[in-house]
Amino acid sequence: MSSYKIIDHEYDVVVLGAGGSGLRAAVGLSEAGLKTACISKVFPTRSHTSAAQGGISAALGNMGEDDWRWHMYDTVKGADWLGDQDSIEYLCKEAPKAVIELEKYGVPFSRTDDGKIYQRPFGGMTKNYGNGIVQRTCAAADRTGHAILHTLYGQALKHRTEFFIEYFALDLLMKDGECKGLIAWNLNDGTIHRFRSHTVIIATGGYGKVYYSATSAHTCTGDGNAMVLRAGLPLQDMEFVQFHPTGIYGHGTLITEGARGEGGYLTNSKGERFMERYAPNAKDLASRDVVSRSMSIEINEGRGVGKEQDHVHLNLNHLDKKIIESRLPGITDAARLFANVDVTKEPIPVVPTVHYNMGGIPTNYKAEVLTVNGSEKTVPGLMAIGEAACVSVHGANRLGSNSLIDLVVFGRAAAKRAAELIKPGAPHEEISELETQKCLDRFDKIRNSEGNVGTAELRLLMQKTMQSKCAVFRTEKTLKEGVDEIKKTFDGLGSISVKDKSLIFNTDLVETLEFDNLIRQAVVTVDSAYNRKESRGAHAREDYPKRDDDKFMQHTLAWCDGKNTKISYRDVHKSTLTNEVQYFPPQERVY
Ligand code: FUM
Repeated sequence: MSSYKIIDHEYDVVVLGAGGSGLRAAVGLSEAGLKTACISKVFPTRSHTSAAQGGISAALGNMGEDDWRWHMYDTVKGADWLGDQDSIEYLCKEAPKAVIELEKYGVPFSRTDDGKIYQRPFGGMTKNYGNGIVQRTCAAADRTGHAILHTLYGQALKHRTEFFIEYFALDLLMKDGECKGLIAWNLNDGTIHRFRSHTVIIATGGYGKVYYSATSAHTCTGDGNAMVLRAGLPLQDMEFVQFHPTGIYGHGTLITEGARGEGGYLTNSKGERFMERYAPNAKDLASRDVVSRSMSIEINEGRGVGKEQDHVHLNLNHLDKKIIESRLPGITDAARLFANVDVTKEPIPVVPTVHYNMGGIPTNYKAEVLTVNGSEKTVPGLMAIGEAACVSVHGANRLGSNSLIDLVVFGRAAAKRAAELIKPGAPHEEISELETQKCLDRFDKIRNSEGNVGTAELRLLMQKTMQSKCAVFRTEKTLKEGVDEIKKTFDGLGSISVKDKSLIFNTDLVETLEFDNLIRQAVVTVDSAYNRKESRGAHAREDYPKRDDDKFMQHTLAWCDGKNTKISYRDVHKSTLTNEVQYFPPQERVY
């Protein structure tokens, strides 16, 4: 038995992660009278949701006619027909209620002159099934995520959610295919904690740090996704990695799509508004996969700007200064700080930058985790929400501002489902000590690694490989090289070195555990991309330029037992919950 002393806890529900989805779930669970713990490796208001800028979509119709069915159509189409239509229907129908709830909780939304929530145009959001631009994205200036996160944290405290802050989760405790809790390490005092719960809700966010240049925070290491892989469960659609068109060149910091929503536009080295050629209707507000690919083509064909001709310009200097001050204050600061640009006078240098993972832990629209064993089935005791989950409302490409709404709609759905399934205070089953031991053995092995390669060195190798071999455009050759290089980097785990053996705020050990989490996701991402021989949404194969609905209108499922992956597929849910609406793909998406 290990020498670690274990502190035991019992909760009805444990929420892992304190970003927008985790906090929204925690509020709902606590309101429903369930004893709820929320565990986070960072202070809740430092979660990555705070970086979300432009807004949260909902067909409120505050700035012109709108309809949840139009929102659904845009989301299905934006997803390039890989989204599950039952989940998308749920998302779009519930969105207005979820936003009004946020307003009542106290989110300080920007306002119209008549006091309604301000809504701006965003990429791919249209009226009347693609006939014109709609203003659907509710905004709190360009700091919407920050406003939502702080408000939800206040609500969770009010409803007496119990927080375990700066605890790093190690692994799930599984018994006969059911989740019974998890083990976490308290970074502050070095103690190990075992949480028993009737349900664990994973809300750990994305894994953007698998790439070298990403808008993601350093904490975005997909810890929950990796825990799911280690529990022998699959991840879904990991090949779909979103590149946001406007990361600041050389730095990666996000410049919100809201900047184009307010009238900003992109230009190449000839000063040409090139999006007019690629998307004659939506232009700069086409969906992100389309804009990122168009920018990459401009750069690859020699029309990029700068000495290296490797980026393009985002122009805002024609906009009214009052609009910039009131609606885009955050990106005005970011452009000055990170690009030394005064947006009222000069263009911002921008380049497509990794921003979001459409893939993640497969779930149904009630947030219950799915696996496939012959047929689709739920994993008792386990739920996932937010960017960690693949519900799948974003399919192959997410529309901007559909992420914040996903967080709150499915955070809320998870709390509702848990309240249906769990009787407050119900007794917990015993779990074998072997499960705890297995988790602590892995922890101990990593902590005592005595190899000769630093974690940062291996992480950089992984990030550079992913950036160059699993990029906006992909081919058989680059992906095969990616698969081989990532497997080699995975093998490097065997010779990793952890110099600091202490248990208190040991950042060397935290980064190594995070790397162990990241590299597994890199393996399944590049393997899933290699196996999908078509182009769809964010997955652009130069050697298979067309979408192939006959073979690939299917979700990829990937298991990874260390470095070996198993790939399988599951059907996209084409039917909806109410059959009020259902959409079928045309041959091409037209913007
Ligand atoms: O551009 C943005 O403000 C990002 C929004 C999003 O990813 O939803």
